[in-house]
Amino acid sequence: MAAPVKIISIFGTRPEAIKMAPVIKLLEREKSFSHKTILTGQHEEMLTQVLDIFSLKADYNLKLMEPEQRLADLTARCITGLTEIIQSEKPALILVHGDTTTTLTASLAAFYQQIPLGHVEAGLRTGDKYSPFPEEINRSLTDRLADLHFAPTGLNQDNLREEGIVAEKIFITGNTVIDAVQEIVGEDYALPEELPLSAVDFQRKKVILLTAHRRENLGANMKNIFLAAREIIEKHQETELIFPVHLNPKVRRIAEEFLAGEERIHLLKPLDYLTFINLVHKSYLVLTDSGGIQEEAPGLGVPVVLLRETTERPEAIKAGVVKKAGTDRDRIISLTSRLINDKDFYQSTAEKANPYGDGRAARRIKNVLLEHFNFAQDVFTPFSIE
Ligand code: UD1
Ligand code: UDP
Repeated sequence: MAAPVKIISIFGTRPEAIKMAPVIKLLEREKSFSHKTILTGQHEEMLTQVLDIFSLKADYNLKLMEPEQRLADLTARCITGLTEIIQSEKPALILVHGDTTTTLTASLAAFYQQIPLGHVEAGLRTGDKYSPFPEEINRSLTDRLADLHFAPTGLNQDNLREEGIVAEKIFITGNTVIDAVQEIVGEDYALPEELPLSAVDFQRKKVILLTAHRRENLGANMKNIFLAAREIIEKHQETELIFPVHLNPKVRRIAEEFLAGEERIHLLKPLDYLTFINLVHKSYLVLTDSGGIQEEAPGLGVPVVLLRETTERPEAIKAGVVKKAGTDRDRIISLTSRLINDKDFYQSTAEKANPYGDGRAARRIKNVLLEHFNFAQDVFTPFSIE
C-alpha cells in the first residue's frame, strides 16, 4: 500500500472550527492520509468551546489572540508563525476554510512554501470589497491562491467560474455546516439547567435570538441594531431576547450600554455549539449579522432577520426563510414586528429550506481528495438541491 499522504488543516476561529470539524474527523479516520491540525488561535475561549464539543485535538496552537487585535498585526503574526510549522512539516496539501484572517494568511503561507491549497467554502461573494470587511477580499484572494475549490452551492461555483477558475478545480460539495448541524441537533434536547434562562418560557413566549459581531457593523450600525432590538422587546410584551454576546470588547461595550437592565433581555456569554444550535431550534426567530447562522437556521425552519446590507448567501433569501433588514433601525423594527404580529407572514417564512447542503459535504471533500491523490476513482458526486 502507498504511504499515507500528509494533509494539514489550518484554522483559528469559532466558525472555521465548526465547519472543519466534520472534514477533519473523516480525514483522521482515512488510512490513505496522515492528517494534522494547526490552530492559529486567532480566537481563544470561543475556539476551545468548539474543539471540546467535537472532541478535536490540535497538533499545533500558535495562541495568537490578543485583546482587540488589529488586522495588520494579527496578519503578520499568523504568516510568520504558520510558515515555520509548514516548513518543518512539508505537507502535500493544506486545507483552509472560509474568509478569516487565519484563512488568508494560511493560504499565503502555503503559497510562499509552494504547497498546494484546498479551500473549503469557496466562491461566496457579495461583490462589495468592503462588505463584509475584510472577509470579501480574504475569500477572493484565497480562491485566487487555491488549487482545489470546495464550493458549497452551484451559485458559488458560478462565482468562481466568472473569476476564471477552471471547472476541473471546482467541486460542489454542500456546506459542511449542515453536516455539523445534523450531528448536533436533537429533537428532545433540553437546555442545560445552569444556563441563566430559567425565566424564559419557550412555549408561551416568542423568543428572539440575537447575534452581532461584524467589523463593518461596529459603532453606529451596531448601536442601531441594539436600539431596534430593545424597542422590539419593549413594544411586544410576548417576546424575550437572548443575546450570547461575542467576546470582542467592542461588541460587549455597546451591548452593555444599550441592552442591559431590561428584564426580558438576556445577555449571555458565547454559548457552546451544542447549546447554541439547539437554542436556534427552540427560538421563534433569529436576528443576526452572522454568516454561518444564515445557513443553519433555514434548515431548522427558523426565520432570520438579516442585520447586514449585503450577503454572500442569497440562496436562503430566495427560499424565503431569510429576510434582509440591513442595519436601519426602522427597517429592523418593522420587519421583525411583522414576523411577530402577522401569523400568515410568519408561517410562510418559517418553511424549512436546505439550499446549503445535505449533510454529506465532508464526505464529498474526502472523496475529492482521494481522487486527487489517486487513491480512488469516480467517487465524487456533486451536491445538488434538486
Ligand atoms: C473574526 C473573523 C470573522 C468571523 C468572526 C467569528 C476575521 C477578519 N474576522 O471576527 O470573519 O465572523 O471572527 O466570530 O478574521 N475575543 C476574545 N476571545 C475569543 C475570541 C475573540 O476575547 O475567543 C476578542 C478579542 O479581544 C479579539 C476580538 O474579540 O481581539 C476580535 O477577534 P477577531 O478574531 O479579530 O474578530 P473579528 O475580526 O471581528
Ligand atoms: N455560535 C455558537 N455560539 C454562540 C453563537 C454562535 O456556537 O454563542 C455558532 C453558530 O451556530 C455558527 C457560528 O458560531 O455556526 C457562527 O459564528 P460567528 O457568527 O461568530 O461567525 P460567522 O459565521 O459570521 O463567520
